Amino acid sequence: MNAFEISTLKEYNTARENSFENPETFWDDIASNYQWQKRWSKTLNWNFKEPKINWFQGGKLNITENCLDRHLKNNGETISLIWEPNNPEESEIRMTYSELHLAVCKFSNVLKSKGIKKGDRVAIYMPMIPELTIGVLACARIGAIHSVVFAGFSSQALADRINDSTCCAVLTSDGMYRGSKNLAVKTTVDQALKSCTSVKTVVVIKRDNSDIKMTETRDIWYHEAEQEVSDHCPAEPMDSEDMLFILYTSGSTGKPKGIAHTCGGYMVYAGYSFKNVFQYQNGDIYWCTADVGWITGHSYIIYGPLLNSATTLMFEGVPTWPNAGRFWEICDKYGVTQFYTAPTAIRALMALGDKWVKASSLNTLKVIGSVGEPINKEAWDWYEKVVGRGNCPIVDTWWQTETGGIMISGLGNIGKQRATFAGMPLPGIQPVLLDMDGKEISDDGIEGYLCIKYPWPSMLRTIYGDHQRCKDVYFSNYPGYYFTGDGAKREDGMFRIIGRVDDVINVSGHRFGTAEIENAINSSTLVTESAVVGYPHAIKGQGIYAFISLEIGNHDDAEVNNSVVSAVVESIGHIAKPDIIQIAPGLPKTRSGKIMRRILRKIAEGKTEDLGDISTLLDPSVIDSLIKGKK
Ligand code: PRX
Repeated sequence: MNAFEISTLKEYNTARENSFENPETFWDDIASNYQWQKRWSKTLNWNFKEPKINWFQGGKLNITENCLDRHLKNNGETISLIWEPNNPEESEIRMTYSELHLAVCKFSNVLKSKGIKKGDRVAIYMPMIPELTIGVLACARIGAIHSVVFAGFSSQALADRINDSTCCAVLTSDGMYRGSKNLAVKTTVDQALKSCTSVKTVVVIKRDNSDIKMTETRDIWYHEAEQEVSDHCPAEPMDSEDMLFILYTSGSTGKPKGIAHTCGGYMVYAGYSFKNVFQYQNGDIYWCTADVGWITGHSYIIYGPLLNSATTLMFEGVPTWPNAGRFWEICDKYGVTQFYTAPTAIRALMALGDKWVKASSLNTLKVIGSVGEPINKEAWDWYEKVVGRGNCPIVDTWWQTETGGIMISGLGNIGKQRATFAGMPLPGIQPVLLDMDGKEISDDGIEGYLCIKYPWPSMLRTIYGDHQRCKDVYFSNYPGYYFTGDGAKREDGMFRIIGRVDDVINVSGHRFGTAEIENAINSSTLVTESAVVGYPHAIKGQGIYAFISLEIGNHDDAEVNNSVVSAVVESIGHIAKPDIIQIAPGLPKTRSGKIMRRILRKIAEGKTEDLGDISTLLDPSVIDSLIKGKK
């Protein structure tokens, strides 16, 4: 048996046992499947106290050699990337491994020609076009640290992220297409860069030919620059623990966290988890519908598939344009074998009726996946019966930006499946549930805090520029464990994820800190104070419910709504717009001035019969007016 591949339940059980008994040998065997410029001298060196986590210490590698060069001999003519444009009338692009390799070398040389080098941070703010994947890989090839910022974020959110990690360059496009919309991208970058002094270079890809302003000493067109460079670019030797990328995600406090991943461990785990969760076989066509701006796109559109010489499909558009059958038409057009999406998309498409799915045959599908938020039973059943036609296993993959790769999930059709359960941990992953006192829960069916008690190769190493915060957020609540921020329960060894237990809400699979949205809302001149909570939403999983107190004076509802929504759109982007805004004469506070969100959550959910103990409130009378004003 090759340790890298699990094909049967027996192999899974053996791998799991081996990973417990001798984790270092277990991971050595898996890591040996990759191409290293120099083998590591020590597999693991760690403590969760500082925290310090070193995997494959002393090893040298470049992840792009493993994603590209390594496949040229046997798979040079295999399709690496299929790109399906927003508009079905436009032609698709198919790139072989040789072509992708060449494109990455060229892009690397363009970056080098602008003086960008190993260790520099490069922001990437781009729509879902092939150059996004190529740009990410080009950074990795020269050892620059990529920081992809989802192109739906506002200019201010982009500027915050660029400044936090002092990026020296931005890779972007003139504009973008999304469904029926044509959106400005470069203009948003220009706006952001007014407050970013570190950026010296902006590389612009031509996508929609929109009329944009180029700043002479700073901006270059990619299609011009690539004419000037060679198509040969050796891969920079990277230490296992050199940083590969930063990806910002939200936490309970206001400022987004720059989660840092390193080269060796991330590579080992992204490739291993992709292969086994999706049971990818040669000739399969794999499609993940996420955006590369999120971790799912990093690990399971780009790195995981390419590490396995797979064919990965990248889609520029949206599921409902030009009609609600688009996903399924794409599946048939390319013969997609593994399809990976989010519950929010499943619910939205389910609501539009089966006819859109049934118009396509979907007869090539073998495995269908879910990610990003808990999947409810109704959505699970529909996904299984209508999309999977009752003969595809669902892999409900639980993981996080911080974990780098899938942690708990079925592996294709290996082993048992239970609706709404993510399933068993992958080999090498040791999740536990802790009670309020931090004791491990051994009984089944009891909810607890989901923690991980042993390191895995692709875990985060730090929060960029703030190691103390990394320690405080993930390693301090329960010393000796990595704390995920999720609640879960276990039955027969399988985990069911309940949801976040901190002040993070999950809207359509996107994470937002309540404080982050409140800070944005509070920037409206009409607002004195706000409190944001999540509430159950039929399509998005959770919706954003904002309670706000206003400045004295008369304001009509429309004026307030506009002001609050534009404040959020400006500081974060459209994706964080509140679904419900309730004007509140006062917020429920304790005598020490702390807002009791527990009560607001109940009001937002409409569960006001039992509000629990409200005796510690400074002014309990606000509760009645909040209940009366519920929207
Ligand atoms: O609450 C969990 C939820 O998404 C959070 C991680 O969000 P993010 O870092 O943006 O990564 C999303 C994609 C990996 C988790 O803390 N989550 C993710 N996957 C699942 C999930 N909740 C339930 N079931 C899942 N399969």
